[in-house]
Amino acid sequence: MAEYKLLKKDGNAKRAEFHTVHGVIQTPVFMNVGTAAAIKGAVSTEDLEQIKTQVELSNTYHLHVRPGDDLIYEMGGLHKFMSWNKPILTDSGGFQVFSLAGLRKIKEEGVYFNSHIDGRKIFMGPEESMQIQSNLASTIAMAFDECPSSVADHTYVQNSVDRTTRWLERCKTEMNRLNGLERTINKEQLLFGINQGAVYEDIRIDHAKRISEMELDGYAVGGLAVGETHEEMYHILDVTVPHLPENKPTYLMGVGTPANILEAVDRGVDFFDCVYPTRNGRHGHVYTNQGKINLFNQKYAKDARPIEEGCQCPTCRRYSRAYIRHLLKAKEMLGMRLTVLHNLYFYNTMMEEIRDAIDAGRYQSYKEEKLYRMAQGPQ
Ligand code: GUN
Ligand code: ZN
Repeated sequence: MAEYKLLKKDGNAKRAEFHTVHGVIQTPVFMNVGTAAAIKGAVSTEDLEQIKTQVELSNTYHLHVRPGDDLIYEMGGLHKFMSWNKPILTDSGGFQVFSLAGLRKIKEEGVYFNSHIDGRKIFMGPEESMQIQSNLASTIAMAFDECPSSVADHTYVQNSVDRTTRWLERCKTEMNRLNGLERTINKEQLLFGINQGAVYEDIRIDHAKRISEMELDGYAVGGLAVGETHEEMYHILDVTVPHLPENKPTYLMGVGTPANILEAVDRGVDFFDCVYPTRNGRHGHVYTNQGKINLFNQKYAKDARPIEEGCQCPTCRRYSRAYIRHLLKAKEMLGMRLTVLHNLYFYNTMMEEIRDAIDAGRYQSYKEEKLYRMAQGPQ
């Protein structure tokens, strides 16, 4: 059985250990996104071991479409398939269906849509999502949810969230059934529920209370960073997180910038994921403690310094801004690889600093100093 050990609180910031069958996760944690069982930018699982990655995150929808979850099951599950033995979280497919697939139809039973690869018709409901995630045998499965638009009206969102709650009950029943089957690879697969409600406080709070009673392994806040302002997002966290169990993981899905993470940790969130470090890296945008820089900028053409002075990542220990800029401009694969390695190391290291600061009871001063420095802009 998984166990969440709350080690310390500093204000609302939580420092915990989450024990799983695939090892212990130290939180707060940033999960590194590998949507289709690969971190984009030619980053290997061996690399992940060098850059402090604790949890890899993949997507149910993508892996169902290609190569197929049946194939991954036959290969012994996602851990064996991609040769990564630490925790893996799989997102349920709900969000990806809404953001990627064409011609969706949402019904009580689930969602009908067309594959973004070959256009074929697919149906996914709570049971299908759990079955796929069970085949993938991830450490943590996410509930199948609808992520309503940030501008949807109150009535739409209320109906959507009610359906998401009914879906969550079906997810829980199906997950229990699957975990009891002889054929199942990971019989201790965990299930996290997802809070929704767009920017409506009343719906968010009511939903948080309802799902908290369901004794799930963890609780996510979804439907944020989808077009609302940062202030609206922080406000929703302020009013919602207090209604989620403190003694379980709290996961803010798809967030975000370093500043977003620092603010959300302060509001009790301890799991994060986001494509920013990988996507920005591939576009030449790299993180430093003085903010983000764009390596395509002419001023780095003869800059012999590493991306960040003193950074211990595999990129900065060896290569200059000038060289990486050249690689990116020449479209050499190595360029993207080096920027993504640095960016993930930057995020993973910031999480380590966050944990140390909470341990030492100095989270407030750490956060303020980090935010202040990052806002100074690069030299
Ligand atoms: N990723 C980012 N936001 C969401 C969300 O609301 N639901 C799911 N399933 N995944 C997400
Ligand atoms: Zn670096």
